Amino acid sequence: MNENKVDRVGYAYAPSNIALIKYWGKRNTEINLPMNSSFSVSLGSKGATARVQISSEPVLIINNTLSTHTSWASRIFKYVSSFYNTPYHIALNVNIPFAAGLASSACVFAALILALDNLYAWHFDTQTLSILARLGSGSAARSIQPGFVEWHKGESEGGVDSYAEVFPYPWPAFCIGLCVVDATPKKISSREGMLRTVQTSPLYAAWPAAAEEAIQFLKKAIIEQNFTAFGQIAEHNALTMHATMHSAWPPVVYSTPETIRMMQLVWSLREQGLAIYFTQDAGPNLKLLFLEKDIPIVQQYFNAVDIIRPFFN
Ligand code: PMV
Repeated sequence: MNENKVDRVGYAYAPSNIALIKYWGKRNTEINLPMNSSFSVSLGSKGATARVQISSEPVLIINNTLSTHTSWASRIFKYVSSFYNTPYHIALNVNIPFAAGLASSACVFAALILALDNLYAWHFDTQTLSILARLGSGSAARSIQPGFVEWHKGESEGGVDSYAEVFPYPWPAFCIGLCVVDATPKKISSREGMLRTVQTSPLYAAWPAAAEEAIQFLKKAIIEQNFTAFGQIAEHNALTMHATMHSAWPPVVYSTPETIRMMQLVWSLREQGLAIYFTQDAGPNLKLLFLEKDIPIVQQYFNAVDIIRPFFN
């Protein structure tokens, strides 16, 4: 390592991302190679900043709280020292709840690799950064870039072709509503949930091909700005993923009664003519999908909703 770099600070921001077509299941658990390609939207100003500096001992601060002895810390230290085996002082600021299925690991590991790139002046291209972010958390591969992003599952055993790239069709009117039902860390990690589903669910065999096909339909809906098709494809994909989890053993269930109550509200609003859909990750929280013109009505029915406009600068 170049000793001149010791005093330098690496600094970077990465947005969180929400998958519209989910990554669920790994073909390699060591380097997070997925069974299927996935497709997401990055969350603009919702994400993580990372400040990384070489130090004499490992220190982790998350949102101004010393977190050096948490389970997050061991995962993060292991990740950063896989590049150069040296201790770091790391400060993270994350503006979404941790480990509650709000994609916090995605923005954290993407911000960390971008901060290391900044610290060591590697100047890696976005493809390489996506591959390196993936090693920390699969979904982090999609947090290197803004807007709609597709993560190609790749075929190679080493993962050189498993990276994400931008799908260059912005949709300025598209909104996401974060509904936090429960912000406490989930009891079953996505890593464990995926493993159990792949190993025990009789429905899982149908999942990878269904997801690949859904990506093609979703991209067409985006190009045509067909929001009905877009919402249906995304919501159906999330429910299909949860169906594979429910049929795992022991079952993997992230929904709570409040999650279901909110789904029913979405369906009833749809019956009344509102173009609103949802997606759900490995947690109880729903992410509403709708267009800008419907912001007032969405706020009226979901009073604690946090509205994000991913393409609005
Ligand atoms: O990258 P992980 O291990 O946090 O897994 C993410 C899994 C889902 O959020 C459920 C789906 C996805 O594609 O983000």
